[in-house]
Amino acid sequence: MAVATAFDLLRESSPVVSVGILTADLLSLGSELALLERSGVNVVHVDVMDGCFCPMMTVGPPFIKALKTPLLKDVHLMIDEPLNKVAEYAAAGADIITIHPEACSHVHRVLQQMRLMKNANHPEKGVVRGVGLDPGTPLEVLEPLLDELEFILVLAVNPGWGGQKFIPSTKGRVEKAKNMIAGSGREILLGVDGGITRDNIAEVAALGVDLIVTGSAVFDGKAAEANAKFMLEAVKEGARSADLRF
Ligand code: DX5
Ligand code: ZN
Repeated sequence: MAVATAFDLLRESSPVVSVGILTADLLSLGSELALLERSGVNVVHVDVMDGCFCPMMTVGPPFIKALKTPLLKDVHLMIDEPLNKVAEYAAAGADIITIHPEACSHVHRVLQQMRLMKNANHPEKGVVRGVGLDPGTPLEVLEPLLDELEFILVLAVNPGWGGQKFIPSTKGRVEKAKNMIAGSGREILLGVDGGITRDNIAEVAALGVDLIVTGSAVFDGKAAEANAKFMLEAVKEGARSADLRF
């Protein structure tokens, strides 16, 4: 039987919750992933920071490789000049790789290069190419890239760390990104990342996005499984209210 592409899997399960794993107990990675699987989460989000583009330094390809799970691996590269590094992340098993134009001298070239990459676990599954945008970056940056990407990630916080506050102008930016996608005539998935908690996740889902990242609000050191289930339900609820509105 043909393997569905990562893009198809995401589109079919849209809207999905992509849970940031870095605030989990990393010494118990296996059981933290099992907890997400049990809760019904489909995607795990990994924030890769290099100490240059971002003040913090986090993890790299060996960590992605160590994620033994059927969850899709959503790898958010907040690193300078990813051109010669993206291949390592694909080889480590990334299903989605998101880069930042603010960190690239040749963003179009990086995306072209990513088009040729194979999914390390299932070559037929492909790698979804994402472009992430900081809150201060004009969305127009995306226009010349729309033919070379499958995913847009609107950041609702500045790259740096978990637990920051959702920046309200994100909502207008999401609307604008949706219009750009509609105008492109291409199928492109849209995500939001940063500052998403129990209190605002349904509202974000009601914007009609495909992927919602939430990290510290799930792995809060207390009730991760209950938090994950809550987020999944709230996203369904929010998406339903969006369907009723349109
Ligand atoms: C921002 C990262 C985010 C974010 C998620 O630098 O890209 O993925 O930290 O964490 P929470 O959900 O805690 O904002
Ligand atoms: Zn992220």
